[in-house]
Amino acid sequence: MKAAVLHAPKTPMKIEDVQLDKDLRPNEVLVRVTHAGVCHSDYHIMTGETPRPMPVVLGHEGAGIVEAVGDGVTRLHKGDHVALCFRPYCGWCRQCSTGHPNLCDNVELLRQSCRLNWNGETLHNFIGVSCFAEHTVVHESAAIKVPHDIPLDRVAMVSCGVMTGVGAVINTAKVQPGDHVAIIGCGGVGLNAIQGARLANASTIIAVDVLDNKLEMATMFGATHIINSRNEDPVKKVRELVKGGVDYAFEVIGLPQTMEQCYGMIRKGGTAIMVGMPPANSHVTFPAFSFFYEEKSIKGSMFGSARPSVDIPRILELYRNHQLRLDELITRHYPLEQVNEAYEAMVKGEVARSVIDI
Ligand code: APR
Ligand code: ZN
Repeated sequence: MKAAVLHAPKTPMKIEDVQLDKDLRPNEVLVRVTHAGVCHSDYHIMTGETPRPMPVVLGHEGAGIVEAVGDGVTRLHKGDHVALCFRPYCGWCRQCSTGHPNLCDNVELLRQSCRLNWNGETLHNFIGVSCFAEHTVVHESAAIKVPHDIPLDRVAMVSCGVMTGVGAVINTAKVQPGDHVAIIGCGGVGLNAIQGARLANASTIIAVDVLDNKLEMATMFGATHIINSRNEDPVKKVRELVKGGVDYAFEVIGLPQTMEQCYGMIRKGGTAIMVGMPPANSHVTFPAFSFFYEEKSIKGSMFGSARPSVDIPRILELYRNHQLRLDELITRHYPLEQVNEAYEAMVKGEVARSVIDI
């Protein structure tokens, strides 16, 4: 089958003819991948900023159709449409049992190991999905059944970017009607945090980015105010717009500098939510006294604190009811052969999201 292989960091992915071991073990599912979203998290691997074993097949924001199921799989059948989740979960560990399957203690055991081969060489799997390929094998908990009437390119984006952005606001922060929020970074994930805030009836939604075209998109997705942080100090401006600071600020890039800005934007008792994926081993500093004196909080949000089997169908239902925008998120479609061009467009900030048609 065809797959995009990253042989080494800082080199383009190459389309190769690879072999997938399709002998399903218990609780595994074989999926024909139809679409894969172009998410920034893969890019951290391409640049080498986040080291991973190579060669690897990237892609983790996927959707497709079930082709076969292993022993013990009862919830899924051939022909089902599924969202591919990069956080499989066991269902019984402390995290799963307390409502946090996105933090499952056994996630690594459930992610498939290396079952891809190219010219006799083993290819590494990427976070249990590796969907820049025509087929993938995932743990059944990583294949979330979705309705047949929702286009699978939309489903693909929901499996990472939409879930992460909307979930950060709805699940992690639990923004309430009338709250004031700021969102730093208006990419594929940040735009979804913005529309999550609109869905939660936040009264002020301030979007911050360095690109005017992203800020235009932010307005379309529900931002009430926009700040280009190249032109003005975003912390000062946010504190002018909402006297005392916002209730929640979301960092959706993954940079120490913008994480500090995020913390600077919140009011006394407010919460800064860190959504972006920072470089491995990076550190960030916050003024210590304010934790005590102003009761400020910092909270991480990983995969939108998702409970995938509940939250993914919920988001798709909101889309069907026209309460969430997914169509407008897809700026471009690319064939797998142009996956490198798709990432170039993302880095240049040309797109909200692109989707690879596999
Ligand atoms: N200040 C403000 N905005 C910035 C800055 C900055 N210093 N640097 C980059 N941005 C903006 C970009 O202009 C872009 O609009 O951040 C946005 C990032 O968007 P994408 O590249 O589309 O990334 P996305 O897929 O949304 O992911 C964002 O979340 O899941 C993680 O790994 C992912 O760390 C990444 C983050
Ligand atoms: Zn992602």
